[in-house]
Amino acid sequence: MFDFEAALKDIKNKGLNRELRNLETAQGPYSVIDGRRMLMMSSNNYLGLCNDIRLKRAAIESIRKFGVGAGGSRLTCGNFTLHRELEERLAGFKQAESSIIFGSGYAANIGAISGIADKSCVIFCDRLNHASIVDGIRLSGAKLVVYKHCDMDDLENKIIRYHTGRGLIATDGVFSMDGDIAPVDRIVKLAKKFNLMTMVDDAHATGVLGENGRGTLEYFGLKDDVDINVGTLSKAFGVEGGFVAGKRKLIDFLRHRAKSFIYSTALAPHNIAAAVEALNIIETGQQARKELAEKSIWLRSKLIKRCFDVPRGVTPIIPLMVGNVDTALKFSMLLYNEGIYIPAIRPPTVPKGTSRLRISLMASHSYDDMEFAVENLVRFGRKLGVIP
Ligand SMILES: Cc1ncc(COP(=O)(O)O)c(C=O)c1O
Repeated sequence: MFDFEAALKDIKNKGLNRELRNLETAQGPYSVIDGRRMLMMSSNNYLGLCNDIRLKRAAIESIRKFGVGAGGSRLTCGNFTLHRELEERLAGFKQAESSIIFGSGYAANIGAISGIADKSCVIFCDRLNHASIVDGIRLSGAKLVVYKHCDMDDLENKIIRYHTGRGLIATDGVFSMDGDIAPVDRIVKLAKKFNLMTMVDDAHATGVLGENGRGTLEYFGLKDDVDINVGTLSKAFGVEGGFVAGKRKLIDFLRHRAKSFIYSTALAPHNIAAAVEALNIIETGQQARKELAEKSIWLRSKLIKRCFDVPRGVTPIIPLMVGNVDTALKFSMLLYNEGIYIPAIRPPTVPKGTSRLRISLMASHSYDDMEFAVENLVRFGRKLGVIP
């Protein structure tokens, strides 16, 4: 029998145990967590839509009309007109011919990859890609070739070495634990050169990057140059669900082959109604996006000035590198005691020796909120020897 107790003890001894915190109010710049009002600096609610009155109204209206559950998978009895409407809107938003919605971003990645690839394929995967991409590749049976993070020379060398027939390059658009942007323009060029398909997981870029929030393709001035364009509704959209946008025949194929689409209950109609409303806001939300980028740049440079190991960049995911697991945990706990919620991210989520605090911003954080966080980061960073 598997010895869960020993395994859990081992996890704890390594400082890698995970605890669930309980939110008692809506997700926002401040939320009540386990009875305390906390400055929330770890949410993917980038545009503050989780608790937006327009989304709530759309969801409530939809509940009145359609109830709270879909009642089945899309292919049996759970396909509401709303699902089709959102798919058409998402395709337009992503400048693609078509799109397909999944229950989550995770489901979109595993469904899309395992739907199109099999053991005759090679998939080139950035070392820091999200776990759902790696799981999708494993599920597909394709050969997994990992290339160094955002290293186009290494990618090209590996393509030359391993590419034999059908192949795909898969990357996060914005890396979830590092907040940097994949060189999608160069990936697209390499893919064309070697006749490979491309997949970009734009979970953290959708709604955030590009003038119209279309994501990394828009950021690089690309249009429909990526074959499998994945997004999630769970981050900037403020609700839940995932989707793939692409050519009509690819999307039709996924409807027949993506198991996480076929064998899973459709998202509830109220979630879809709220997502449609989120898209209305995102498509006209240049101001919030601009503010979010300005605040992200501001906070990064403040932290760099105070000697923290923080990369420059424009995205709201800001990794503050600590290295050691115990120090990262202590740092997070000291901040927590001061009313600031910034979790420590540890292996296996990030590579060994790269434990960090992962700060993430919302457009609705004020400069005072950020000043307060910086003050305390400096105070405890000094105490723990993270900065001089
Ligand atoms: C890069 C990336 N892809 C996919 C996902 C999964 O999306 P979802 O939370 O909608 O399942 C996440 C979220 O954690 C992510 O960071």
